[in-house]
Amino acid sequence: MDRSEPRTEVAALREALDYHRHRYFVLDDPEISDAEYDALFDRLAALEDSHPELVTSDSPTQRVGAAPSSQFDAVRHDTPMLSLDKCTSTDELAAWEERCRRLLDADDELSYFCEPKIDGVAVSLLYTDRVLVRAATRGDGETGEDITSNVRTIPQIPFRLPADAPSPLEVRGEVYMPITGFLAFNRRALATGERTIVNPRNGAAGSLRQLDPAVTAKRPLAMFCYSIGETAGGWQPRSHADVVAALQRWGLPTNRRGSWQENLNGCADYVDALLAERDSLNYAIDGAVIKVDDLALRPRLGQVTRKPRWAIAYKYPSEEASTVLVDVDFQVGRTGAITPVAKLEPVFVGGVTVSNATLHNMDEVTRLDLRIGDTVLIHRAGDVIPQVMKVVESKRPQDARAVMMPRECPVCGSAIVQEGDEVVARCSGGLKCRAQRKERLRHFASRHALDIEGLGDKLVDQLLAADLVNGPADLYRLTVDQIAGLERMGVKSARNLLAALAASKRTTFARFIHALGIREVGETTAATLSREFKTLDALVAADEETLQEVEDVGPVVASRIASFFADETNRLLAEELHDEIGIAWEVVDEEPQTAPLDGQTWVLTGSLEAMTRNDAKAALNDLGAKVAASVSKNTTVVVAGPGAGSKRTRAEALGIEIMDEAEFRQRLADLGKATQDPDVP
Ligand code: IVH
Repeated sequence: MDRSEPRTEVAALREALDYHRHRYFVLDDPEISDAEYDALFDRLAALEDSHPELVTSDSPTQRVGAAPSSQFDAVRHDTPMLSLDKCTSTDELAAWEERCRRLLDADDELSYFCEPKIDGVAVSLLYTDRVLVRAATRGDGETGEDITSNVRTIPQIPFRLPADAPSPLEVRGEVYMPITGFLAFNRRALATGERTIVNPRNGAAGSLRQLDPAVTAKRPLAMFCYSIGETAGGWQPRSHADVVAALQRWGLPTNRRGSWQENLNGCADYVDALLAERDSLNYAIDGAVIKVDDLALRPRLGQVTRKPRWAIAYKYPSEEASTVLVDVDFQVGRTGAITPVAKLEPVFVGGVTVSNATLHNMDEVTRLDLRIGDTVLIHRAGDVIPQVMKVVESKRPQDARAVMMPRECPVCGSAIVQEGDEVVARCSGGLKCRAQRKERLRHFASRHALDIEGLGDKLVDQLLAADLVNGPADLYRLTVDQIAGLERMGVKSARNLLAALAASKRTTFARFIHALGIREVGETTAATLSREFKTLDALVAADEETLQEVEDVGPVVASRIASFFADETNRLLAEELHDEIGIAWEVVDEEPQTAPLDGQTWVLTGSLEAMTRNDAKAALNDLGAKVAASVSKNTTVVVAGPGAGSKRTRAEALGIEIMDEAEFRQRLADLGKATQDPDVP
């Protein structure tokens, strides 16, 4: 290449930049570092600066080129942008197929293409001579708005299509805000006092509605393309699967979870599998879309009121709902933290009926401007505690009441205090407060701490109420008679509990540290501390300075640990548990300087049977490996249990080592990590 000729170099740089953009943003598999990419970009920008005549609108430097506008022009869709009929059960889905087959007079089964129904904004992209010339919203289906300047800022969208793409070509799909981007945006907005976004869909819609593309450019947006308009330069694909494959070939972002299904049973399985994956996806979905795959059948099926008969949306339960805030309760946590909890009029959301939502702290109550009697928007995804997203101000009743933090602990009556500039208010009662004692016991017995089987919430309550225990050490002094005397307990369950207590005495140092319930010391920090100090004496003796030398232990955590053991009650309790009650752990004499899996990234997918995901993760972390949520070319090993899906496929495609659970456990054993076998006490 003749680099002395700027035109040639500019062309080469643009091609390289577009190639690497596609690898990074669409394939999620970059070949060069960000710095190398930036260097190419800067070189192109410099050349364009000194040769303005070489600037073209499809240059990678022109993503945020346009000036702010005062309004969006109207765009008429040659082919209307349709919406979808919906169903919510497999029976309705079957009825839909029945009707399709009747209309087609089809005896044979139909095949389908299934896709996630992305909760975003429908957008049409028009490529003329393979160059992106226009992007428009759906609007009312007939007429939308010209949002070209904004859509150009979305890095996934190519300005140019390859030579084998037909022209002109209209591509349709959904612009969305990835969940990670949405959360990051809100985190930043909270820190800077800006307005937060209610949900990813509003985030996408609001971002595309900005008059200044420079604002849109700062929003994390992405797109999934799922169809073409009638304008396809004479190209006549035969199936929807062909369309998706072609879109992908041309470098347009498509959804990896789209899949061809031989018959309706396959679709029903797809709908179930996708729902199970819903909360692990990095984009919001509100259902699955099932489309008749054979494009020749579509005109024969036609449409009714803007809804094609050849496709249907299978809707999942909404993860959002509105309801009324009836009251706010104040709960006391293990460390005395007072958490306001919203008491709601019961509402069905995310597949269950919800009547409580966390409000985190009073700052959150203030931020939401929440009053009792307000109508609120609730979000519930997966097993996460429901959250209050916003107040519907227009529905605020006249007699709405302010939410007030009590001055005294609702459980023990001690004063509620707020330290320095901490957001969290706390009950000052310490272990005098029954709520704190209870939470501490619950934490001590919990699965990630000493894992005392059978010692649940209710039993802890009963033991406290009967004055049989005060702190963790008392648990180990309980007798069969004492336990058997409690309501709904018998001799057999009492024996079981004592056996579980006895079993809990053999544990790991990390679990023991975690079980003590030191503020700011979670599982990870506990594991680090156990590796560093190895013995309780060493940990108790460590001063703040020494503690801060430990990786990931900052001044706050160090001071929490030091002041925990400076408190005589805490120190005596820890020593009593270890020396008298005999809670013990294996003492590893020599820890290798570097952990065996240092620098490795593992991914766990599918279900594990002999161990929990948390234990697997902890074991890997202990060995030095990171555990990531998604597979990339940097992944070292993928552990794939039954039900593993796309992560396994991706690992196969990338040639990454895959092992099943048995192999995984063997590997852990080889590395000196015994995994708990449920059959051996
Ligand atoms: S197909 C018939 N496929 O859902 C053509 N739509 O409720 C309809 N949507 O307006 C489009 N994901 O905005 C199709 N994989 C997907 C989709 C999808 C989300 C949206 C689209 C449409 C709405 C209909």
